[in-house]
Amino acid sequence: MITESDIGLAVPDDAVAIAALSRRVIEHGLEWRWTPQRVLASMADADTNVVVARQFNDLLGFAVMRYADEEAHLLLLATQPRCRRQGVGSMLLAWLESTLQVAGIRTIKLETRSGNAGARAFYKHHGFVEHDRRSGYYQGVEDAVRYLKQLGLPDA
Ligand SMILES: CC(C)(COP(=O)(O)OP(=O)(O)OC[C@H]1O[C@@H](n2cnc3c(N)ncnc32)[C@H](O)[C@@H]1OP(=O)(O)O)[C@@H](O)C(=O)NCCC(=O)NCCS
Repeated sequence: MITESDIGLAVPDDAVAIAALSRRVIEHGLEWRWTPQRVLASMADADTNVVVARQFNDLLGFAVMRYADEEAHLLLLATQPRCRRQGVGSMLLAWLESTLQVAGIRTIKLETRSGNAGARAFYKHHGFVEHDRRSGYYQGVEDAVRYLKQLGLPDA
């Protein structure tokens, strides 16, 4: 079972595994953009968090979020196919949402491939609302569906 203590910031040694998972389960059929170099650059970027779910040396999933003044952009989120529907994706998202509460950011945006029914069900489950569609957004191969979520105010 996954717990909060299994979630934490990625380290440079994770870059290859993160990039490979992105290529396999997010970027399939597209030109590979999230290479190890780009993942490493994101880790080094002060406005971006790269987060992993890890048990012992096993990387179960990861997420990348970029922060702006008023909103955050969830750029990537993926879990290993062998550990789906076990709460790993939800735990990564909850970790990132807690950072937003601290930063006073209340809006999360993201986009996902229109044909990705699993991801769309996941985001809907977590209170994201579909607000827009971008034709051919993914290298002309597939449309994007864009989602927004407004977070509540932290408890007083
Ligand atoms: C989308 C993804 C991150 C979800 O990760 P996960 O670890 O399986 O998610 P969770 O176990 O936390 O799911 C929480 C809830 O979301 C919903 N959900 C998740 N995956 C779903 C699916 N394939 N179909 C329908 N509902 C789904 C369910 O309500 C689920 O709760 P339940 O299992 O009790 O019914 C994972 O399927 C994945 O990595 N997909 C490939 C990459 C991807 O599409 N990333 C997102 C776009 S960048």
